[in-house]
Amino acid sequence: MKNLKKLLCLLLAVIMLLAMSIKAFAAAGDTGFSDVAQGAWYAAAVTYVRDNNLMSGTGDTAFSPNANTSRAMLAVILYRASGSPEVSSSAGFTDAADGAWYTDAVNWAAEGGIISGYGNGLFGINDPLTREQIATILWRYAGSNSASEAQSFADESTIASYASDAVDWVQANGIMSGKPGNFFDPKGNATRAEVATILSNYMQMSSAEPEPTPDPEGSNSRVLVAYFSGSGNTEAAAEMIAETLDADIFELVPADAYTEADLNWTVSGSRVNREHDNEALRNVELVTATVSNWEDYDTVLIGYPIWWGIAAWPVNEFVLSNDFTGKTVIPFCTSASSGLGQSGELLAEMAGDGNWLEGHRFSERPSQSDIQSWLNSLEIFGE
Ligand SMILES: Cc1cc2nc3c(=O)[nH]c(=O)nc-3n(C[C@H](O)[C@H](O)[C@H](O)COP(=O)(O)O)c2cc1C
Repeated sequence: MKNLKKLLCLLLAVIMLLAMSIKAFAAAGDTGFSDVAQGAWYAAAVTYVRDNNLMSGTGDTAFSPNANTSRAMLAVILYRASGSPEVSSSAGFTDAADGAWYTDAVNWAAEGGIISGYGNGLFGINDPLTREQIATILWRYAGSNSASEAQSFADESTIASYASDAVDWVQANGIMSGKPGNFFDPKGNATRAEVATILSNYMQMSSAEPEPTPDPEGSNSRVLVAYFSGSGNTEAAAEMIAETLDADIFELVPADAYTEADLNWTVSGSRVNREHDNEALRNVELVTATVSNWEDYDTVLIGYPIWWGIAAWPVNEFVLSNDFTGKTVIPFCTSASSGLGQSGELLAEMAGDGNWLEGHRFSERPSQSDIQSWLNSLEIFGE
């Protein structure tokens, strides 16, 4: 009897040991989340983002692969991947609370030009992240490198212009691909499973090394503000624009500088009146009409005063001397009362190339907030 008891105990111990080792083996092989099946297309990505502390579960055992990801959440993921650096400034988003789980990340993302918000003071903290937004944000995080134009999607025309380079880049680098039917689905929400896949593709593409924090000074180093100014108004606007965008600035200086008397259009026979009356005199030569590192810029803002309803002609030589192919061009002007009129269209025609966006007219002395709100309204500088 005693022996039988001993045998039973031994058998029980063996059975328990066996059960434990089977359970341990099963846990090592699954994803660790009850809602992520081992065979799911996103299982490996979920395991990768979990193991690399990029994303965690939504509860004790759930990952919620089909749930949306908020914009604040992506900021937090990238901020952590960059080592949670010190954040010195607040971007002042009106929908971002102080001291919240996302506050530092959101300010860091804005400071580095990775996520600049909607332009109306809102970050869209809880808004679901769309596919074109995550493409753009990752592209900026990686340094806004250009990629050759990739395959065209059936819904290509619905991709926002600000996201178009980014979509080419994510596609060229195998970070995102289309959906069945050759759709990119740019406005579709990126689910957590998709975000895990995109992040895992991106991190593995960049050798799993998190990107260094982008240098805010260089965040818009691909933007150039070129301007001509007769009496300083356009210059002041151009300087504010360049400063706000951290862009380079290039003054168009006539070889034969305009004096105050030259600019006095109320005096008949003054230089501007003569040039106005005789189109042949409007070929104003510039000290330098070309920009040495022109190919570095993908966006060029051109500023000028309005003269008799059109762009002051000293900008013409700049427009005629440079190749705008592949560049986004945004005209802006200052004037006493006239609107932008057709000045932008006429310059675009003169250039013959480039993607010319609708421009903007400022009063003679625009304020910093006038400048800021115009820039915020431009999709190209938002996301
Ligand atoms: C020759 C000349 C023509 C002008 N024509 C117009 C005009 O047609 N409409 C207008 O609103 N302002 C006109 N202005 C005013 C300027 O557009 C305005 O003062 C502008 O801010 C000057 O910019 P700047 O200081 O950069 O030269 C004209 C100014 C000059 C000198």
